Amino acid sequence: MATITKAAVCRTTGKSLSIEDLELSEPQEDEVLVRVIATGVCHTDIGMRDAPDRVPKPIVLGHEGAGIVEKVGTAVRKVKPGDHVVMTFRSCGHCPNCRQGVTAYCDEIGTLNFAGQRSDGTTAFNDHGTAIHSHFFGQSSFATYAICSERNAIPVRQDVPLEILGPLGCGIQTGAGAILNSLKVTPGSDVGIFGVGSVGLAAVMAARLAGATTIIAIDTQRSRLDMATELGATHTIHAGHEDTFTRVAAISKRGLNFAVDTTGNLNVIRQAAEGLAARGVCGLINTAKGGDASVNILKMVLGGRSIRGIHEGDSNPDFFIPQLIEFYAQGRFPFDRLIRFYDLAGINVALDDMESGKTIKPVIRMPAAH
Ligand SMILES: NC(=O)c1ccc[n+]([C@@H]2O[C@H](COP(=O)([O-])OP(=O)(O)OC[C@H]3O[C@@H](n4cnc5c(N)ncnc54)[C@H](O)[C@@H]3O)[C@@H](O)[C@H]2O)c1
Ligand SMILES: [Zn+2]
Ligand SMILES: [Zn+2]
Repeated sequence: MATITKAAVCRTTGKSLSIEDLELSEPQEDEVLVRVIATGVCHTDIGMRDAPDRVPKPIVLGHEGAGIVEKVGTAVRKVKPGDHVVMTFRSCGHCPNCRQGVTAYCDEIGTLNFAGQRSDGTTAFNDHGTAIHSHFFGQSSFATYAICSERNAIPVRQDVPLEILGPLGCGIQTGAGAILNSLKVTPGSDVGIFGVGSVGLAAVMAARLAGATTIIAIDTQRSRLDMATELGATHTIHAGHEDTFTRVAAISKRGLNFAVDTTGNLNVIRQAAEGLAARGVCGLINTAKGGDASVNILKMVLGGRSIRGIHEGDSNPDFFIPQLIEFYAQGRFPFDRLIRFYDLAGINVALDDMESGKTIKPVIRMPAAH
């Protein structure tokens, strides 16, 4: 008998998700069927709901799923039924960047994560015979069951609560990875984090882990700055109420060795770049809706400064997600402080609360019996 999954379906651009019962296909030979325990919500889910042409619809979104392996395809060796897994972005495993372990820059990242179907054209879900798009970020985790591939199922230890782990699959590994993997923040350095939502706060925690001695959090929301201070920021700047550039220059006399932008605001990005010390690096995480920014080339050249994009924190998830869980278990990476839980029935409230800034990281708990 076919498995029925409850899923939040995005049928119409910009409209609320609808909770529906869908029929689930069997996992293919390299696939893993996961009973989703909980899933984080990321701004990219909202972006895809609202973009007319980024993913095909109707689709089940969600890409920070954590759950228990229910069944595996015949070729799967990495996980087995009963294993706890975090689902992350999918990569091909054989292009040059994948072979070097920088899977976030996989040649096939677009088709594997945003096509809304398998490469053979099939989808994981159907509604009375009509295909519903799936495999969003290789998982579509806004459902009680998800089908991912062996590659993007990351086995995790079972002595930490599974319901908090999903956000490690995207937002949290992105912020932490930007600091630890991409920028390789060094002890004693001055770091500026522009925008301290879930990604920026993960970056703050990671900067403290890396031994940065000046960690400046910049945000328009006072409550987020307070959270940043609790998590390791040494200074805060309340954007809109004080001049960011002047304050950064006053705090960091030689300039920032590392800056991270999560706001996507072009003026903020300019401030981050202009606040860099000689040889400083500014990492861009927010895609700024595809916008263009200008920088002063003279400052870039003479100071050896650079600006670079960062996708998924340059994470090699098989290694990095367990590493972050270890930091969490040691009490050195309390990312659970950013989480507020919602039921699946309340998923649209969760999306609204994330959009309004009320909640830093919504996590949807799936119904227990299904
Ligand atoms: N590159 C990647 O791989 C990747 C991965 C995950 C998320 N993202 C993206 O990263 C971005 C950040 O995600 P998030 O969950 O932290 O979002 P968020 O909205 O919680 O955080 C952004 C923060 O920036 C602050 N902000 C906005 N405008 C500002 C301004 N002018 N000055 C100072 N602060 C300002 C907001 O108050 C907010 O706290 C999103 O766009 C998300 O889609 C990128
Ligand atoms: Zn994401
Ligand atoms: Zn690849």
